[in-house]
Amino acid sequence: MFEIKIVKTKDELKELFLFLSETFYKDAIKHNEYYYKMGDRFVEMNDQFNREKDFLMYIKDEDKIIAGITGKNSNTKDGKITLGVLAVDEKYRNKGLAIKLVNTFEDTCKKKGIKQIDLGARFRATPLYLKLGYSYSLMIQVFDFITIDDIRKNNKYNFIELSSYQSDAYGFIIYKVDGVKEEYINYFKENVPTSYAQYIFEKNL
Ligand SMILES: CC(C)(COP(=O)(O)OP(=O)(O)OC[C@H]1O[C@@H](n2cnc3c(N)ncnc32)[C@H](O)[C@@H]1OP(=O)(O)O)[C@@H](O)C(=O)NCCC(=O)NCCS
Repeated sequence: MFEIKIVKTKDELKELFLFLSETFYKDAIKHNEYYYKMGDRFVEMNDQFNREKDFLMYIKDEDKIIAGITGKNSNTKDGKITLGVLAVDEKYRNKGLAIKLVNTFEDTCKKKGIKQIDLGARFRATPLYLKLGYSYSLMIQVFDFITIDDIRKNNKYNFIELSSYQSDAYGFIIYKVDGVKEEYINYFKENVPTSYAQYIFEKNL
């Protein structure tokens, strides 16, 4: 019933950004969470617009955007892309629009020679990616005076490290985990200062 459209102009890109940021803002207010400003997301959307517009999609009901999905850093040489932002207006949720957008996004990847999609998901959205057959791991990021050794000291679950990175003021570890559980996110948040934990999803097409 709803048609998926591709962003063709800078005005449409801006309209999509306004929709996505407003939807995330409302979601943060509803769940009593901090709203992370999305200016960096707009920079990524602009970069993607210059690379390949086909990975910037939206759905309208009459003249208003009600759902959207964005890719970032699409790289046909490496065959990789990251799913940047996905949102559906609250009034239109649970009708399968998110699944429809991700399915179309995956079809476009296949057509363009992209073989792998990855993304970082907020916990509330994880059932969607599990349902769509994505595999998962847990990423713990740390900042400033805290290093990845502080994460290791607090790895009470003995998770296996898949990869890690440390620079002067930032680091992360990606762990293999046995399930997508909120408990793991809360544990690191409570026990490792400055840390931010989120699930990373991946799919090979
Ligand atoms: C997450 C979001 C995009 C889902 O959109 P949607 O159109 O309602 O999703 P769909 O109708 O396609 O549902 C797909 C599946 O996702 C899951 N799902 C969606 N929202 C969910 C929620 N809030 N809690 C649990 N599962 C959910 C369900 O498994 C659903 O499958 P079902 O049909 O068997 O119930 C939407 O809730 C949203 O925009 N949230 C705010 C922004 C956000 O969190 N974006 C994702 C960032 S990674």
